[in-house]
Amino acid sequence: MEQLVELNTYVEFGGHYKPPDCIPLQRIAIIIPFRNREHHLRHWLYYLHPILRRQQGEYGIYVIEQAGENTFNRAKLLNVGFVEASKENNYDCFIFSDVDIVPENDRNLYRCSQNPRHLACAMDKFGYKLPYTGYFGGVVAFTKEQYLKINGFSNNYWGWGTEDDDTYKRVTLSGMSVDRPDRNIGRTKMIRHQRDKGNEVNEKNYVVYNRMKYTRNQDGYISLKYSLIKIEKNQLFTKITVDIGKPPS
Ligand code: UDP
Ligand code: BGC
Ligand code: MN
Repeated sequence: MEQLVELNTYVEFGGHYKPPDCIPLQRIAIIIPFRNREHHLRHWLYYLHPILRRQQGEYGIYVIEQAGENTFNRAKLLNVGFVEASKENNYDCFIFSDVDIVPENDRNLYRCSQNPRHLACAMDKFGYKLPYTGYFGGVVAFTKEQYLKINGFSNNYWGWGTEDDDTYKRVTLSGMSVDRPDRNIGRTKMIRHQRDKGNEVNEKNYVVYNRMKYTRNQDGYISLKYSLIKIEKNQLFTKITVDIGKPPS
């Protein structure tokens, strides 16, 4: 981490960057759901800070850590990231990124566009193409307005799977479509890894998914509840640790 800090002296404390010679059109918060992936985070920071600087955006990096050992809830952590980052700065654009995904092409702009944008549309593990039309996982970008229009993400997906499919449905049911970069530009690599302990596939998620059409206006940004445990400012990122509870029994 010390070496990483030395390599990226242009980053301001807390993981913020502002280009010195232009006025950026968007203030971008990058939100990373996290637990126990320190080595992936170092890898991500090593690649992303230089890329983001070359893209000349104004950005802040927020690592949202789920405290404790309860089942992981990726989408709920993303909602927490939206709320906590918004308390710090008047961000216009939110990029929700897995900790283990790195773009291969600088022209894959970490920015928001007309519609919610899917930045990880050509991942190495899926043969550099979409695994299915409605795939919307890995890295996505929402303006504040787009995010609020879909009532954020569902808080009810505990464990692995389907939460990103829910998000895709929220987007289309809200009358928006998905923007994606060209397949060559959208190439991304995911670090190979095993499924984490505490994030096993949860069959109950399909039940939540099948009901989402009716529940999405109640479940999401407006119903988010969590407690803040700690805000830790590091040189290259801000880490926010939260208690998000546990799945219903
Ligand atoms: N994640 C994490 N710790 C965990 C489980 C998941 O930090 O124990 C975060 C991390 O950002 C990860 C993302 O959630 O990249 C998605 O999980 P995973 O990588 O297992 O999904 P997949 O590789 O199947 O897309
Ligand atoms: C899951 C998604 C996942 C995708 C690709 C789908 O079956 O529901 O959550 O992102 O597979 O792994
Ligand atoms: Mn992964």
